[in-house]
Amino acid sequence: MSTAAPTPVPAEEIEFAGRDRISALQLERLRWSLGHAYENVAHYRKAFDDAGVHPSDLRELSDLAKFPFTAKSDLRANYPFGMFAVPREQVSRIHASSGTTGQPTVVGYTSNDLNNWADLIARSLRAAGVRRGDIVHIAYGYGLFTGGLGAHYGAERLGCTVIPMSGGMTERQVRLIQDFRPDAIMVTPSYMLTLVDAMQQHGIDPAKTSLRVGVFGAEPWTESMRGELEGKLGIDALDIYGLSEVMGPGVAMECAETKDGLHIWEDHFYPEIIDPQTGVPLPDGEEGELVFTSLTKEAFPIIRYRTRDLTRLLPGTARSMRRIQKITGRTDDMIILRGVNLFPTQIEELILRVPALAPQFECVLDRPGRLDRLTVRVEARADAAGADRDAAAELLCRLIKAEVGVSVPVEVLDPEALERSLGKARRLIDRRPR
Ligand code: DLL
Repeated sequence: MSTAAPTPVPAEEIEFAGRDRISALQLERLRWSLGHAYENVAHYRKAFDDAGVHPSDLRELSDLAKFPFTAKSDLRANYPFGMFAVPREQVSRIHASSGTTGQPTVVGYTSNDLNNWADLIARSLRAAGVRRGDIVHIAYGYGLFTGGLGAHYGAERLGCTVIPMSGGMTERQVRLIQDFRPDAIMVTPSYMLTLVDAMQQHGIDPAKTSLRVGVFGAEPWTESMRGELEGKLGIDALDIYGLSEVMGPGVAMECAETKDGLHIWEDHFYPEIIDPQTGVPLPDGEEGELVFTSLTKEAFPIIRYRTRDLTRLLPGTARSMRRIQKITGRTDDMIILRGVNLFPTQIEELILRVPALAPQFECVLDRPGRLDRLTVRVEARADAAGADRDAAAELLCRLIKAEVGVSVPVEVLDPEALERSLGKARRLIDRRPR
C-alpha cells in the first residue's frame, strides 16, 4: 500500500461538483485512507482487528460505521509519534494541542499534507470573500497551535499580503491595523472583541478601519455575536472551523454569500453525526456529535475521530458540500443544571439581548451544598455606565429562566473586570469539588 495521498482534484471543479461525484471521490479516498491507516499505524491495525473489520470491508460509504472510533485517549496513549503513518523523516511539521487536561495531543504533516492544508485555507478565505492581493492580518497564535501557521500559509497560497501578528500585544495590533490597513483579519471572536475595546479606548471608531472581512473561529460563537461584530466593525463576519487532530483550521468554512453554516470540505474529510451516548450514526439534520475521517492525510490519518463538538449536518447551499450548523458547544462544556442541559453559547445569545451588557462573560459552576450552582458573571458595557445594573441582571435572569428553564444568579461586573484571553476564551469555570 502506497503512503502517498490520492491525486488532488482542482478546487474549482469539486467545490461545485454534483453529489454523486463527491460521494464517488469520497469512497475512493476512504478506501485509501483506511488501508493506509491499517497498514502503517499499529494502533489502527489492532483496533480494526479487535473489531473484526478490514479495510476491504468498505464497499459503500455507510460501511464506515463498522469501523471503530478514535478518541483523544487513543492519541494520548500513543504519545508522541505513535499515530504517525509515515517514517518520522517524512514528517515536515509537528503541531500540538495545549492539553489543558494532561498530555498534549501531537499531530504531524508531510509536505503533501501541508500543501493540501494551504489549499484548503486558501479555499476557505476565498469563500469568505478574501481575494488575491488583499492584506490579511493574522492574530491567531503562532507556534504549536494550528491557528497561526495554518492560516498563514493558506493566506500566502491565495496570494495575499500576510501580517503574521500572532496573539497578544493588543495595543500594537490596534496600531498596525491603523497603519497597514488590512482588508481581512483572522482571529478568535473573543479576542476580536478585545481589539474592538482597545480601539475604542484609543478613540478609534472600529467601523472606520480598513477591515472588510473577519474570519473567526477556534471557539464557539453565536449569530448574535455575528451581529455584534458586524455592527461594531462594519465587516462581514464568517465562521471557520477545524481541529488539530483532523488538520487545523479550514476543515469547514462559511460562505460570504449565504452565511448559513459551514461547508465541510468533503473532498478531504468525511463527516458523520453520531448519538454521543450510543455511538450510532444519525441521519442528516439531527443534532449529535461530529465525527471525522480524513480522506487524504498521509502523516496522521484519522479514522472516525470523536470531536465532542455538537452540531447537525445540513445539505449544501453556496457550495455542493454539506454544511454543519454553527457549533452549539462541546459535550465537555455542557452544563447539566437540575436536569437541564445548557451551553455557554445559549447564555451568550441572551446576554446580547440586554443592551447594557457586553458579551464578556463567564459561567461559574460550583457546589455550595449538595446541588450544583451556576453563576453568570458578565460585564456591563462601557457606554452603559449610567444604566441600572440591577435591572440588567434581573432582565438576563428572566431571559435565562424563560428560554433555558432554570434560575441562575447573574452578577454584573465593571467593564474590563474579567480577564481577557489572547486566544480561545474560557467561558466555563468549574469550581466544583472533584
Ligand atoms: O482551534 C483550530 C482552529 C484555529 C480553528 C483557528 C479555527 C480557527 P484545536 O485547538 O485543536 O484547533 O481546537 C479544536 O476548537 O474541536 C472545537 O471545539 C473548537 N472550535 C474550533 N473552531 C470552532 C468554530 C483549533 N468555528 C476545537 N466554532 C474544536 C466552534 C470551534 N468551535
